[in-house]
Amino acid sequence: MVGYRFMGKAHSNAWRQAPRFFPLKAHVEMHTICGRNAAAVQAARAQLGWQNVSTDWREIVESPLIDIVDIVTPTDSHAEIAIAAVQNGKHVLCEKPLALTVKQAEAMLNAAQKARVVHMVCHNYRRIPAIALAKKMINEGALGRIFHYRARYAQDRLIDPDFPLDWRLQKETSGSGVHADINSHIIDLGRYLVGEFNEVSGITHTFIPERPIVEAPGKGQIINPKAPRKMGKVTVPDSAIFIGRMGEGTLASLEATRYAAGRKNHIEVEINGSKGSLWFDFEDMNRLKYFNNDDPKDRQGFRDILVTQRDNIQPYVSHWWPPGHIIGYEHTFVHAIADFVNACIDGKPTHPTFEDGLKNQKVLEAVEKSSSSGKWVKL
Ligand SMILES: NC(=O)c1ccc[n+]([C@@H]2O[C@H](COP(=O)([O-])OP(=O)(O)OC[C@H]3O[C@@H](n4cnc5c(N)ncnc54)[C@H](O)[C@@H]3O)[C@@H](O)[C@H]2O)c1
Repeated sequence: MVGYRFMGKAHSNAWRQAPRFFPLKAHVEMHTICGRNAAAVQAARAQLGWQNVSTDWREIVESPLIDIVDIVTPTDSHAEIAIAAVQNGKHVLCEKPLALTVKQAEAMLNAAQKARVVHMVCHNYRRIPAIALAKKMINEGALGRIFHYRARYAQDRLIDPDFPLDWRLQKETSGSGVHADINSHIIDLGRYLVGEFNEVSGITHTFIPERPIVEAPGKGQIINPKAPRKMGKVTVPDSAIFIGRMGEGTLASLEATRYAAGRKNHIEVEINGSKGSLWFDFEDMNRLKYFNNDDPKDRQGFRDILVTQRDNIQPYVSHWWPPGHIIGYEHTFVHAIADFVNACIDGKPTHPTFEDGLKNQKVLEAVEKSSSSGKWVKL
């Protein structure tokens, strides 16, 4: 694994838990964790449960002892590491967004296809049991013709003007900031649940154009947010809203912001069809709300489905606890890694692939183009 902070922790936990809860087709050995700072990566190794450390990701991608490379670094390093890894025959799990640009994402997909390895981009929200159930219901036709896909990813941490200029707020490290960071997740959910985006019209915006620079040993590391204030320019959008046409005539409306006071990790998805609606809110992630037009009129209303039924009645949850014993954020990564490991052994693709990552990147770029030109952009 390359990287060891937020996603490093989430993925390490998942690599540890997946074999304990899921029937994996391989034995998982957490071989080497990599970071650039020797002392910090050594501490991460001990805390997160890896066997070895490295300060150079090339050692990992070239090691004959390693089969899978997991990339959890900021977006600017995904392409270089992933391409080198697949060229060395490794299966690759890469964090989202897949790349900084469409061009990079294309190069990653081409290299992975040429190497015939298994490749996955970590849009872990697909594997929330409630979302997987929504997918099943939509496939079975429970919603009928889909009129609307509405999704909102809202947080509030950028309201504080003292929030530092981290890697997510710089173009060269994040691509398109909050747009790439969190719109990419709800674009992925839209593509997964409803269909491809055909055209988009959007606005991206930067509410606070300058933020304090903190002395840091490298990108992606903020060590002293209270350091004396030197200001730097935010070079990416810190909010983005777009509408679009998708699937078979569905109207889409998506919003990503970190300026929604009180919203911490609010991911809301509502899908309206001719036969009913589905509604999901990540902060209540064990539940899926379902409205069925065919229910008797005198008792119609949104059903509140607690998605914890075992015996393969509802997706993924059979492997955890008895009904009603709810799961959380970290489990979504366990589900992704369990599916990924089995796909590596079977030598078969598992979603979302680098191709999904590329399609996602195309939507991100189309929204940026639309925002700068003031015009609709076709995909
Ligand atoms: N799936 C999700 O829900 C989700 C959530 C958060 C972040 N992410 C994605 O995960 C990735 C990492 O984000 P994060 O929040 O963990 O970032 P972070 O800043 O918390 O951690 C980044 C890590 O990468 C290391 N790093 C940076 N460049 C490196 C290099 N060249 N070689 C080795 N290590 C390097 C840093 O030292 C740090 O350990 C990003 O692509 C981000 O978009 C995904």
